[in-house]
Amino acid sequence: MANFAATITGTGSAFPAGIVTNQDIVEKLAASGIETSDQWIRERSGIRERRMSAPGNAEEYNSALGFAASRAALEMAGRKPEDIDLIAYATCTPDTVIPSTSCWLQHRLGAVNAWAMDLNAACSGFLYCLSIADQFIQTGQVKTALVIGAEVLSSIINWSDRGSCILFGDAAGAVVVERAEADTPNRILSATLRSDGNLWELLHIPAGGSRFPATAEIIRDYLNKIQMNGRELFKVAVRTLTSFAKQTLKKHKLTPEELDWFIPHQANIRIIEAVAERLSIPMEKVLVNIDRFGNTSSATIPTVLDEAVRAGKIRKGQTVLMDAFGSGLTFGAVLVRY
Ligand code: UT7
Repeated sequence: MANFAATITGTGSAFPAGIVTNQDIVEKLAASGIETSDQWIRERSGIRERRMSAPGNAEEYNSALGFAASRAALEMAGRKPEDIDLIAYATCTPDTVIPSTSCWLQHRLGAVNAWAMDLNAACSGFLYCLSIADQFIQTGQVKTALVIGAEVLSSIINWSDRGSCILFGDAAGAVVVERAEADTPNRILSATLRSDGNLWELLHIPAGGSRFPATAEIIRDYLNKIQMNGRELFKVAVRTLTSFAKQTLKKHKLTPEELDWFIPHQANIRIIEAVAERLSIPMEKVLVNIDRFGNTSSATIPTVLDEAVRAGKIRKGQTVLMDAFGSGLTFGAVLVRY
């Protein structure tokens, strides 16, 4: 048995001020001769609007959003930045390649006693980081961890592709995770994590990294932006989200009825509904923010969690299943007794 348990004691979230409606996107694309409509976007994805950072606004950098979310989570937990031992920051849109966004956050927060790391598992990143925090806390190496999922996806949107540019938004979510007695019921119960690099092509950014550093041609051809096979990804998403949720429930001998809340990654409302149906989880138990924020990758699950905690929906003692998939492809499900 582990020495300790890890328990979530605070949540927070932050969004840029700028709201981009579907109609705004219709007008933006029309300027380049690309057609779309508010109705198509709503019906096919469930998204009405999303937030986007204003380019160059230092208050809306990835780390600035992460900072605002972290402050809110620390306040709820009643902790100070100096209390943090570990900052685990999930992002695929870092402020800078080096230093890590977690170090930018540490600098701004004054978390002088922490070690800070970034992790890129795209949309599954928050669950990967939460699991790392859980493990370090269980072994006794870390007492208090700050786990963040934050993205400025507007920086990698491919505005020449109407199939993907409508989906993404910017946001940050954070949780404080703390050491508790090994037998405490209110804890992170388990994580089921995996990845499948064979499926890299379904969602990737071909250039702009060390393999193909950005050139004028690469930028002109949008090769440093998201390339997505939406139709295939949709099928894999439904299959894997369902399978990871089932594996996790089975591991804990739980039935879907015993679950209080389900927080799936928010990539498309139709994916969420299909998964809920396959799991026999009624939509009343499924927490959703995709209508207002779109797909915010690693920020999705912690922002949904924070909203539900602050609304008094998620209460102490309740069982919450979080379930994600993302570029890589990466997959993960984490079960928490709140
Ligand atoms: O974090 C993970 C990231 N992403 C995902 O998980 C994405 C998963 N996939 C999806 O969410 C959906 O596949 C999309 C929302 C991306 C697309 O919806 P779909 O129902 O799978 O549409 P489709 O790609 O099969 O395209 C249907 C039609 C096509 O036209 P034709 O070939 O039938 O004439 C598209 O060109 O819809 C067209 N289309 C659009 N029309 C208007 C694609 N995008 C648009 C658009 N506006 N924005």
